[in-house]
Amino acid sequence: MDPSGPPRAAESPPRAGSDGGLRAQAQAWTPGQKLEYLRSRNVGDCTRCKLAKTRTNIVFGVGDPNARVMFIGEAPGADEDRRGEPFVGAAGRRLTQWIERLGMKREQVYIANVLKCRPPGNRDPAAEEIEKCSPFLRAQVRAIRPAVIVALGRYAGMLLIGTDQDLKLAQMRNRRFTYDDAGAGLQIPLHVTYHPSYVIRREGELPPGQRNPADDTVMSDLERALRVLRS
Ligand code: URA
Repeated sequence: MDPSGPPRAAESPPRAGSDGGLRAQAQAWTPGQKLEYLRSRNVGDCTRCKLAKTRTNIVFGVGDPNARVMFIGEAPGADEDRRGEPFVGAAGRRLTQWIERLGMKREQVYIANVLKCRPPGNRDPAAEEIEKCSPFLRAQVRAIRPAVIVALGRYAGMLLIGTDQDLKLAQMRNRRFTYDDAGAGLQIPLHVTYHPSYVIRREGELPPGQRNPADDTVMSDLERALRVLRS
């Protein structure tokens, strides 16, 4: 697979023809096999956008390929870039705490980002980067087919809702959306909540020891999101 080819290549498993019916075989692959093909053959050593020049590692995603819950953040930070795994720095530790407070282990969910490479200085993702990289995220969702998706922060929320509007986080949280991938016949409940980095920043503004209302808000958002697992 040509790594400089169009991102559409990431949308689907291999096509019939020169791939000798591999696409048909891929229908029978496990989610783990699909993710591995996507990681190694479609994403490969991606050079589709300029982040390839500044990244240390591609941060593909981590967790259970059969997860029922998928958390999606914005883009890798410095720690993630160094280690090649999403949410392993301070924001990641907070996300792991949230997952554990929900009675799950980090290994039981799947964690990914809109962008697979770190924007220098943790700047906001550029439109072109989102356009080039998001097909990989969509392909991850197609492989995993989770029961619920939780978007962490504005960028992931807006992308997954599929809106062109510049929405504030407050306009997205406390509502149930649907992640739509008509081509794959997927309609997945989608909830948006605060990014852990925002919650940590808010904590820094509070007197020491004071309970962080943003943290409580996230927990109630997550509990609401996970209700679908019990229905
Ligand atoms: N912030 C994100 O959005 N993703 C990460 O992986 C780490 C920090």
